[in-house]
Amino acid sequence: MSPISFLEIEGLRKSYGANEVLRGIDLSVEQHQVVCLIGASGCGKSTLLRCVNALETIDEGQIRLDGDVVSGEGTDVDRLRRDVGIVFQAFNLFPHMRVLDNITLGPRRIHRHSRAAAEAQALELLERVGLAAKAGAYPDQLSGGQQQRVAIVRALAMNPRVLLLDEITSALDPELVAEVLGIVRDLAAEGMTMLLATHEMSFAREVAHTVCFLHEGVILEQGPPERIFGAPTEPRTQAFLHRIVEAGRL
Ligand SMILES: Nc1ncnc2c1ncn2[C@@H]1O[C@H](COP(=O)(O)OP(=O)(O)O)[C@@H](O)[C@H]1O
Ligand SMILES: [Mg+2]
Repeated sequence: MSPISFLEIEGLRKSYGANEVLRGIDLSVEQHQVVCLIGASGCGKSTLLRCVNALETIDEGQIRLDGDVVSGEGTDVDRLRRDVGIVFQAFNLFPHMRVLDNITLGPRRIHRHSRAAAEAQALELLERVGLAAKAGAYPDQLSGGQQQRVAIVRALAMNPRVLLLDEITSALDPELVAEVLGIVRDLAAEGMTMLLATHEMSFAREVAHTVCFLHEGVILEQGPPERIFGAPTEPRTQAFLHRIVEAGRL
């Protein structure tokens, strides 16, 4: 028997109506590793991440976390979402709540932390991302980069075992991208297990242990970043990276 990986996705299939979006995904993420999903828009990156977090049901296959099945009927979705945090492209902060309340909502409701304990932890995390002074602000009083940093803190406040990041810099003005990627870089250095979809190829090259090229719902090629970016073997990977280079993004 092969050793168990921390997060294991096996034979995952997902359709929307007649459109089969994921067509048999096999993917493993080891603890403390960063796996980057790359591929053209529409290839299924977001759907894959959403399936892992049970935001979508799956049609076939299995997802396991630390050996436990976390897909299909009988899955404890609340527990899964405590273990697996997700950050979206569009931040998804609650606009009517202050930064501090956005962050403490989950720990108070789900972990049943006291307000004082949740706020102390939130402030500590905000401090780490340089936003302690914004604890009392509302999301629309923050820049996109600041909002996304708050969204990351909100996910971290739940003490997730894995973090899913879905193109978290795609909605940001270029000058704000670095402040968000810097946090992800720090998390990687601290050993956070992460599965992320990104268009930031140089970032993927820098932080990923494994890069997966997704094409029309299958992983066509995966390997260490040096190999995927330096010597891709699949013509479709080559063509994709060629387009990225031409666009000046690698
Ligand atoms: N909720 C949905 N309903 C129907 N089709 C969807 C839905 N979400 C995604 N799709 C389709 O699934 C395919 C993959 O989308 P997505 O996972 O968002 O790709 P990516 O994140 O790689 O750009 C696309 O064809 C998209 O139109
Ligand atoms: Mg997407």
